[in-house]
Amino acid sequence: MSFKNMTIDELIGLRDELWAKYEQKKSLNLDLSMARGKPETAQLDLSTPMLDKVRESTHFICEDGMDVRNYGVLSGITEARRFFANILDVGMDNIVIYGTASLTLMYDTVARAYIKGILGSKPWCKLDKVKFLCPVPGYDRHFTICEFFGIEMINIPMDENGPDMDMVERLVSEDESIKGIWCVPKYSNPSGIVYSDEVVRRFARLRPAAKDFRIYWDNAYFIHHLYRDNQPEILNIVTECEKAGNPDMVYEFCSTSKITFPGSGVSALAASKANIDETIKFMGAQTISHDKVNQLRHVMFLQNKEQLKEHMMKHADIMRPKFEKVLDMLEAELGDADIATWTKPLGGYFISFDAMDGCAKKIVEMCSDAGIILTDAGATYPYGNDPRDSNIRIAPSFPPLEELITACEVFIICVKIVSIDKILESKKKGYIKTNGTYYR
Ligand SMILES: Cc1ncc(COP(=O)(O)O)c(C=O)c1O
Repeated sequence: MSFKNMTIDELIGLRDELWAKYEQKKSLNLDLSMARGKPETAQLDLSTPMLDKVRESTHFICEDGMDVRNYGVLSGITEARRFFANILDVGMDNIVIYGTASLTLMYDTVARAYIKGILGSKPWCKLDKVKFLCPVPGYDRHFTICEFFGIEMINIPMDENGPDMDMVERLVSEDESIKGIWCVPKYSNPSGIVYSDEVVRRFARLRPAAKDFRIYWDNAYFIHHLYRDNQPEILNIVTECEKAGNPDMVYEFCSTSKITFPGSGVSALAASKANIDETIKFMGAQTISHDKVNQLRHVMFLQNKEQLKEHMMKHADIMRPKFEKVLDMLEAELGDADIATWTKPLGGYFISFDAMDGCAKKIVEMCSDAGIILTDAGATYPYGNDPRDSNIRIAPSFPPLEELITACEVFIICVKIVSIDKILESKKKGYIKTNGTYYR
């Protein structure tokens, strides 16, 4: 039944019941987290055999004839470039291999634009203002990079097809200080949205006022499906940009973080040859070469796209029951309460939950008081400021199933209590809350 149609007495009665449950959960001294999208241990175990691969069969010599234990091959060993070219469906010239995580690569890409400029454009540090468009809700660490460089962020709303492209087109075409847009085009963090073909094409056809405008296409979840038989695909942005006469307009990032070991994977950049060449040139001032032992063992273990898909289905088999459990619980407990909506992703690492306006912070706080850690409310928005205070990112992957169930039970109790408070606040007048109970 919709909470909004309940009488004040019914709401108060229900709240008292929920509060008793909340106190009971609190007394358990729980310490559980649904905060960050980390694989659980069983997922990490899937890739442990990789650690023996290099020694077993290559004696450390890669295709280039180099000993991977030594310095050299700045842009990545040939077999790693071929692997990423294959899985991202671009040419070998369109790939450079980077370090053990893509966030470093994204940070460095922005840092280089800031210090040196892009393909001859003025370095951003010499400009009065640099702005980025940020589809929301989005990935907090993208926003952190912008904040670090003093880049002003502009929220772009999203629907089930991706960002509001009318707004994106208008803003980038009329404002030269807009230099980029962060995109997580597939299984977006946190909404799980997959950009439609039309959205990708409109991105590729953008006519930005700034010639150093780039789409920062963070394809972190490009192969992270939850289901074998329902795997949406997106258009290839590098190819679409080429076709649209904008070959240099995109940097596509990815890594094996949630394929093998987060933070100890291999990352890669896909882009036009001009962008790649410039990246390699600038990289030369920073390092002699990245971790090639890691590159080689990754390629030997993951081999090719087909093998990679099979490997990812093993991840899916571990993740799927958790996602389904959370979604079932939300549906059973909140499905007809009319106090929240949430996404039902087919892949990626998150469920995006929208509470009633003005409730997210309070829900996260109550959960935390009961030992359940969620990502901070507001973190999915630039400057940590969710204008509606409604979005909460749920990350079901890390806790074991039983813990996840407990965490979800507490979360649901908190959502209900905070929503009842909100409804009572609007209906109320004359009701005062003391110690969690309402008195007339
Ligand atoms: C959208 C997105 N991009 C990048 C990352 C981090 O990737 P990496 O480990 O390669 O730095 C994450 C991790 O949660 C993510 O959600």
